[in-house]
Amino acid sequence: MIHASSASRVTRLTEYGPPPFLVEQVHLTVHLDVDPVLVQARLAIRRNPVATPTPDLLLDGQELEMVALRLDGREPAAGSWMIDAAGNLLLRQVPDRFILEVENRIHPARNTSLEGLYLSNGRFCTQCEAEGFRKITWYLDRPDVLARFTVTLVAPCRGYPVLLANGNRIAQGLLEGERHYATWEDPFPKPSYLFAMVAGDLAQISGEFTTRSGRRVALHFYTEAENADRCDHALSALKKAMAWDEIRFGREYDLDVYMIVAVNDFNMGAMENKGLNIFNSQYVLAKPSTATDEDFQAIESVIAHEYFHNWTGNRITCRDWFQLSLKEGLTVFRDQEFSADILSRGVQRIKDVRLLRTVQFAEDSGPTAHPVQPDTYIEINNFYTTTIYNKGAEVVRMLHTLLGEADFRRGMDLYFARHDGQAVTVDDFVRAMEEASQRDFSQFRLWYRQAGTPIVRAAMEYSVTTGMTTLTLSQETAPTPGQPDKKPLHIPVRVALLGTTGEHLPLQDNHSAPAPLEMVLELREARQAFHFVGQAGLEQRPVVSILRGFSAPVRLEMARTDAELAFLWARDTDPFNRWDAGQELLERWLFRWIGQYRQESRPSLVGDGALRAAFLATLNDPGLDPAMRALALTLPGEKYVLDRMEQANPDVVHAVREFLRRDLAEHLAPDLLRLYQRMVVETTGADGLAAETTGANGHHDESPLAAGRRALKNMALATLAAADQPEWYRLCEQQYHASHNMTDRMAALNVLVQAGATQAEAVLDDFYQQWRDDFLVTNKWLTLQASAPLAETFERVLALTRHPVFNPNNPNRVRALIGGFANGNPYCFHHPSGQGYRFLGEWIMRLDRSNSQIAARLLTPFNRWRFFEPGRSERMREVLQQIAEQATLSRDVGEMVGKILA
Ligand code: TRP
Ligand code: ZN
Repeated sequence: MIHASSASRVTRLTEYGPPPFLVEQVHLTVHLDVDPVLVQARLAIRRNPVATPTPDLLLDGQELEMVALRLDGREPAAGSWMIDAAGNLLLRQVPDRFILEVENRIHPARNTSLEGLYLSNGRFCTQCEAEGFRKITWYLDRPDVLARFTVTLVAPCRGYPVLLANGNRIAQGLLEGERHYATWEDPFPKPSYLFAMVAGDLAQISGEFTTRSGRRVALHFYTEAENADRCDHALSALKKAMAWDEIRFGREYDLDVYMIVAVNDFNMGAMENKGLNIFNSQYVLAKPSTATDEDFQAIESVIAHEYFHNWTGNRITCRDWFQLSLKEGLTVFRDQEFSADILSRGVQRIKDVRLLRTVQFAEDSGPTAHPVQPDTYIEINNFYTTTIYNKGAEVVRMLHTLLGEADFRRGMDLYFARHDGQAVTVDDFVRAMEEASQRDFSQFRLWYRQAGTPIVRAAMEYSVTTGMTTLTLSQETAPTPGQPDKKPLHIPVRVALLGTTGEHLPLQDNHSAPAPLEMVLELREARQAFHFVGQAGLEQRPVVSILRGFSAPVRLEMARTDAELAFLWARDTDPFNRWDAGQELLERWLFRWIGQYRQESRPSLVGDGALRAAFLATLNDPGLDPAMRALALTLPGEKYVLDRMEQANPDVVHAVREFLRRDLAEHLAPDLLRLYQRMVVETTGADGLAAETTGANGHHDESPLAAGRRALKNMALATLAAADQPEWYRLCEQQYHASHNMTDRMAALNVLVQAGATQAEAVLDDFYQQWRDDFLVTNKWLTLQASAPLAETFERVLALTRHPVFNPNNPNRVRALIGGFANGNPYCFHHPSGQGYRFLGEWIMRLDRSNSQIAARLLTPFNRWRFFEPGRSERMREVLQQIAEQATLSRDVGEMVGKILA
């Protein structure tokens, strides 16, 4: 806990200087056999010849108790060192080169921040990114100080049979008093944020991977014994990721062992510590009876993400935390490409863009908007944002789009060759891309420095007499906090022109022959026109398919008729644009009805025949694979619609969206039912639901095709049930009881709970009785209830905060229940009384005392408070004000609430 006065220290990119001292070697001995834990550190330190000479050494430290200190073997004189108010250690007038030995005590059992060394279900583990190592011992805790680590863990044999740290184990043995030790050595110099150690009683699940140069790598997963049967999927994902990185990027793994430990208490998704990843158990453990298809997919991508960090993050790391997107944006791009290559490129792109547009665009248009490369921060933990990760990945993707795969790969190869073993900047990365391709990205670099989502406006003209098509593009970026004036960006816009049957018309820009069927236009000015010579006298003007594959993270605005959108929804050859046209058409109708609410308080809404017809055409299109159809038929979410409004009213958004769902259900019931039944047969074999677990070959089918069919089946079921007819609820109940995979069970249960159907209570209780002792499944049970848009939900969520499974010290529990309510249930969270806001506010203030990282993240539902209708807006402001006025606030929450209110 930090006082508000010290909370406002700002770190600036412009103030970066190289570290005044370097650490060559770290020897750590951690005594887990005593309470409090004793840490002995032996650091080989020398003055950095390229830094401004400084006589004194300042080592970062937090909540450490000094036991002993020796410099070159001697205790320093009393006046020559001190520990400042924050806990840092200052040593005056140190030599150019010396050995520093420190012994200190720490209290992992009391550590609720889950940063530094802490306990999760009785097992010791660490989380050091970004600045957690300073909670273990005094150190130059910054990413540009790279050192070789040797680590010895000492622990009782009982309760702690497994002792792990980074690298290779070089020694182990028994000690007197039923204790033992293990020594680990990491041959690769690394920054302290990549340090990790684990000790506890863990089952080991192993596999092996042979790299393309023939080195054998042992793969070990560590988890609680009862979850040993849930690691197969993660293990196979890891092998796929290792093989993929060799083929697509030429990158091999570099140690003899790769370890992954699953823990239940973790602030984020997972952590890429060198050779010893630590994961939130949610992203490791899965079997079909406990995890949904979406869980399986998320595991595959997080496993890959952390593995890919070994090169993009660990071998080449960040110079400072302003460069965070250098590793995160690039690694997200790599994990997205991995998923696209092994699953379906179209489906993957839609999911990635959907996340970007719902979460990142909201951040980028609100009070916490910041560039991919920020230039100031107060608390670095607040900058692990969707902008750094997902917009950062889009910026890398645009480089890929501008360069093409071959030049992009040349750029990556140069980056790896030039910077291996270094701590570098975003600019170093862009320079490698420039040099390998001989292109100039000076304007492109603005994507890293300028916050906000650009709007690209497009207009198309076709001349029947000359056959010329002209596409006029303009761009504009609204001001964001601290950045009133924006410059034009370098924007790749992928386009095609489609004829009446959806065929591609050649894009003849007069010089190139043969004419391409698709092009990447480069928009660099505020306004620019592009001309294509085509066929004169076309009866129907061509339809432009623009921003194909979402070639840039912008909001596109283009005047298009409903008929044009319906045409693209049915015919566009670009899977992303095809989906997007449908979304735009659906969204357009939602806004038309919202407009009606602006005029009358209880308007009589009327559905649209053409919209239903377009929906039906997609529903029944056999040329579209099931996963794509499921996505195409999923309506834009309430939050997405709310985020595009000023004076937003969640009741109205909920009402019009439910109206559309019901209208489709009532008019398309026979088609939806037929689709549902066909998908039942296709996922389970002709004998229907009962055969589902065993399937044709006796196994649950985990293939992407089977998962896509389940998604489509469950989409049809959810849409049918929107008609609020008892027969569809009975069908849900039947599916719930007949299926044995979590995907189908959750889908059916979700419909019943969301609708408040009469069966909901009994089925929910059945679910709870079956899974009450399962940590991951009970999280689903909490979220399910918290996200139901029903009058009684608020009381239920309150009651659940007192339920035995709920534990406020566990971030997954908090995310499932509190986050499930505040993020996943806009209708209830935004209750006009403000009860939802006060509830969230109280939890933020309470959690700030135990885990400020989690508390700060819970503020995001308040981000857009200014854009709601006056009553709700004022209720949110009151809660934010109350938080801001707390006597003690963490830096994390202090920074966020300050920005949101500013
Ligand atoms: N580097 C991790 C990743 O993206 C993120 C992470 C895990 C993290 N745990 C954290 C960031 C704790 C900050 C604090 O893969
Ligand atoms: Zn990452």
